[in-house]
Amino acid sequence: MSILVTGAAGFIGYHVSLALLDRGERVIGFDDLNAYYEVPLKEARLAGLMRRPGFSFHRLDIADAGAVAAALDSDPGVDRVIHLAAQPGVRHSLINPYAYTRSNVEGHVVLLEACRRLPRLVHCVYASSSSVYGANAKLPFSVNDRTDHPVSLYGATKKAMEVISHAYAETWKLPLTGLRFFTVYGPWGRPDMAPMLFTRKILAGEPIAVFNHGRMRRDFTYIDDIVAGVVACLDRPPASDDGTAPHRLYNLGNHRCEELMDFIGQLEAALGVAAVLEFQPMQPGDVPATYADIEASTRDLGFRPRVAIDAGVPRFVAWYRDYYGERRCGRQP
Ligand SMILES: NC(=O)c1ccc[n+]([C@@H]2O[C@H](COP(=O)([O-])OP(=O)(O)OC[C@H]3O[C@@H](n4cnc5c(N)ncnc54)[C@H](O)[C@@H]3O)[C@@H](O)[C@H]2O)c1
Repeated sequence: MSILVTGAAGFIGYHVSLALLDRGERVIGFDDLNAYYEVPLKEARLAGLMRRPGFSFHRLDIADAGAVAAALDSDPGVDRVIHLAAQPGVRHSLINPYAYTRSNVEGHVVLLEACRRLPRLVHCVYASSSSVYGANAKLPFSVNDRTDHPVSLYGATKKAMEVISHAYAETWKLPLTGLRFFTVYGPWGRPDMAPMLFTRKILAGEPIAVFNHGRMRRDFTYIDDIVAGVVACLDRPPASDDGTAPHRLYNLGNHRCEELMDFIGQLEAALGVAAVLEFQPMQPGDVPATYADIEASTRDLGFRPRVAIDAGVPRFVAWYRDYYGERRCGRQP
């Protein structure tokens, strides 16, 4: 297989690329290494991939149709696509809305147009998000629930990606699957997300902002479970022999609705340091709870998350100490 992974220098893209290289696939990575969060972390992930045989890389903006076409011409033979490049983060969409429309909406259309021109395309899997469920009160969130009331621009662009994908699957019979990820954490994670933000502040003795006065619940999903789900999905393109558009949607979550305060407790235990809590009101664009119904993902993809937070948090903390400890001593990973 020759698999294009967009967002390869990102958290999930890095781990997915490694898993594919481990099973002997050829991986072509796209990423623009933008400065939304610390670029050295993206570069360190990319350096790890560049050392591996079978990996090639193009630094480009996925919303640049000419650059995407040229890269695919120079690195031909792609037969599968995992599209993860996006502008993530709910809170940042209040500050820089155009980054979301450019990367998530325009970038997605550019990728779908590129897919349409790949003569050997078997399947394109793309990242959606639990944010499409907005503030739905019915838990767990099922792929059959309504998703037309997002509460953030980020969620709205992810919903836009899903409906645009459906149109492409219908019109061009492109085999497409959208995966709605639920709060992914683990080694090499994102510095803008709670596990990393909290860890940094707890170790520095600074207060951590706990929104909605601590009354938050999240379905925290360990990165290895997400990777297993993405790879299983890649191997199962949707059939179009029944006349319907070959487009499917699945939730990838841990199927546990954890109290945020319990997650913080796990972090404190793994770090051996008590957190200083600063309770704050709910943030605009945030939702009080997420919880994935994974019945369809388990049935169709064999998705079975294995890592609960009491196992995943210590693994994340061990990586954090190792990575940032080495950085402070000036050593390379
Ligand atoms: N991590 C989570 O909890 C989570 C939850 C739901 C959905 N998702 C989705 O999963 C995907 C991967 O997320 P992640 O956590 O790995 O984020 P990430 O920010 O670590 O990775 C995304 C990568 O895409 C790159 N990128 C962004 N815009 C680009 C553009 N226009 N052109 C080229 N490259 C670009 C970034 O440089 C980054 O390396 C995203 O689509 C995100 O919306 C993630």
